[in-house]
Amino acid sequence: MAVYKDPVEAAKHAWRLLEESGYAILFTGSGISAEASIPTFRGKDGLWNRYRPEELATPEAFARDPLKVWRWYAWRISLVLGAEPTVSHKVIALLEKKGIIKSVITQNVDGLHQRAGSVNVIELHGSILRARCTKCGYKWEITRVPSDDELPLRCPKCGALARPDVVWFGEPLPVEAYQRALKEFSRADLVLIVGTSGVVEPAGSLPLYAKSRGARLVNVNLEANRYSGICEVEFYGPSTSFFRALAREAGIHG
Ligand code: APR
Repeated sequence: MAVYKDPVEAAKHAWRLLEESGYAILFTGSGISAEASIPTFRGKDGLWNRYRPEELATPEAFARDPLKVWRWYAWRISLVLGAEPTVSHKVIALLEKKGIIKSVITQNVDGLHQRAGSVNVIELHGSILRARCTKCGYKWEITRVPSDDELPLRCPKCGALARPDVVWFGEPLPVEAYQRALKEFSRADLVLIVGTSGVVEPAGSLPLYAKSRGARLVNVNLEANRYSGICEVEFYGPSTSFFRALAREAGIHG
């Protein structure tokens, strides 16, 4: 196991593992979007330092006050639509195009991997840019920030109350996404873990499952997290510095 503070050394080591790998995948969390000015949930400036998740990100909170929950999501939608993918998102998309990484399994709901050009993306926690009818299940894309008088959003098909198409605390993950993710983690011989504390289940255990099947892990995070101490390569610093260096190793321009 090698711990790096220098992104160039970390990227050189990670690139060697990528070249040796047969099935490398990415597992990402909110930290990969932090440099796109989208707040993370924990650690310094984390959303859960300022808001109580049980008041905004649970089915009970939504049942209690759908307008309050929708106003908070409308604010996060404005951040996401105003954000641009970072160089980390872009380099990951280019590595997929070159066949070097096979898929991105993300806990993020911001759609930045897809906007950067990643194709094989599995959204474990849904998407903040999609709404779902609580009655008929109809889903539709949100392409602009809803105005306050449109909230709480209603289903265009049946008129019932709509909700953000994301996974709230206490809710199961979308079955199809989780099944696809399990397959990816069981096939992977290398998992790059980027920008996640790893504390939320069941997503957080997926890299450990891959490791139990012999996969090697690379950890890219600002600070120590659940995967510290069990990865071949650990880089502690901003993910963009790592991916800029990795792009140079891979001979691509992110
Ligand atoms: N580069 C790399 N890592 C970063 C950066 C950065 N620029 N900025 C922050 N980080 C790291 C933090 O150190 C932290 O460990 O990203 C991690 C983000 O952790 P969390 O805020 O816990 O976010 P995440 O792991 O994605 O949370 C998982 O929790 O609230 C739920 O559903 C929500 O999907 C989310 C889940």
